[in-house]
Amino acid sequence: MTTTAQAAPTAERASQSPARRRVFSGVQPSGDPQLGNYIGAFKGWVDRQDEKENFFCIVDLHTITVDTAPDDLRRQSRELAAALFACGIDPDKCTLFVQSHVAAHAEACWILNCVTPIGWLERMTQFKDKSAGRESVSTGLLDYPVLMAGDILLYSAHEVPVGDDQRQHVELARDIAARFNRIYGETFVVPEAVIPDVGGRVMGLNDPRVKMSKSFSHVRGHAVRLLDEPREIERSIMRAVTDSGNEIAFSDDPDRAGVNNLLGIYKVITGGTNAQVERDFADARGYGDLKRRVAELVIEELTPIRRRYYELMDDVAELDRLLAVGADHARSVSDPKLTEMKEKVGFVLPS
Ligand code: TYM
Repeated sequence: MTTTAQAAPTAERASQSPARRRVFSGVQPSGDPQLGNYIGAFKGWVDRQDEKENFFCIVDLHTITVDTAPDDLRRQSRELAAALFACGIDPDKCTLFVQSHVAAHAEACWILNCVTPIGWLERMTQFKDKSAGRESVSTGLLDYPVLMAGDILLYSAHEVPVGDDQRQHVELARDIAARFNRIYGETFVVPEAVIPDVGGRVMGLNDPRVKMSKSFSHVRGHAVRLLDEPREIERSIMRAVTDSGNEIAFSDDPDRAGVNNLLGIYKVITGGTNAQVERDFADARGYGDLKRRVAELVIEELTPIRRRYYELMDDVAELDRLLAVGADHARSVSDPKLTEMKEKVGFVLPS
């Protein structure tokens, strides 16, 4: 695990220590969640939920920065909530909520916009990638990282567990926090990105040179979606692009990225070391065996998640209730921070 600053001290349970480290992270309801989201983010959120005070957010305000059909957004927001609970997010240990239910996020974004130089946003690689070749892009797409900074800073989060693709955005949130603190006095905790050493960038199965992404999850063979049936998972992994060799070992060689990707997925799910993983495959007969065993492991990991997901989707009223409880608790933390921001910049507060 790498962080953008010093490693965090061992966290304690809230009941034992009021100084428990606070975690914030988010995910867009922008398509079918895929194995990269699970390996790079969700699994770590669930595995460490006992140690920290956790806020996880379904970031629908971010999703409308690109064209999104309203009915799809509504459906995908609930589906994502069910998928996260199904992965093991425990509502007694975590606050899971929908971003648009907490008005402070949009308000904080406006105030932070006014301390963020536009050049910082124009340099963001995700903005460059997402706007490339488009005739017109929304102001929201450029402003996306400021909204994200507001998400994190409103909760005074120490840690932001994300995949590697969000590293630059979290670094920007740090810069915005530091700049606001310099101008208006100490207000924000400067957060750290927490990125898994392995699994922080799960690559596409059909092309291990590009990141596995929700946006391409409709492309056959690109991704394993969290809710795929076992036969589909097996088909996608058995067809994964590898190379013409036969050595099953971790490697930085870009020509061996396909094998490295499969080993990384195996490593995160089993929790083993590189040496243990390589030992597990010492008796494998070629890449066919590697793929078959990775497929079996992924199916075993995702099958209970898929079952639980359908149970949760059977009771949408209960899902909505859990999200309402999450939003209430999120407001109780973010509203006072927003008031502090307003005081600091000189707004007259309503009496
Ligand atoms: P999003 O919705 O694209 O992805 C959610 C999480 O999944 C990680 N991820 C991956 N990890 C490893 N390999 C992959 N192929 C892969 N694909 C996605 C992402 O890094 C992310 O951690 N901007 C964010 C959402 C956001 C947010 C925040 C995150 C909004 N506000 C505040 C943290 C804190 C995004 O679009 O994630």
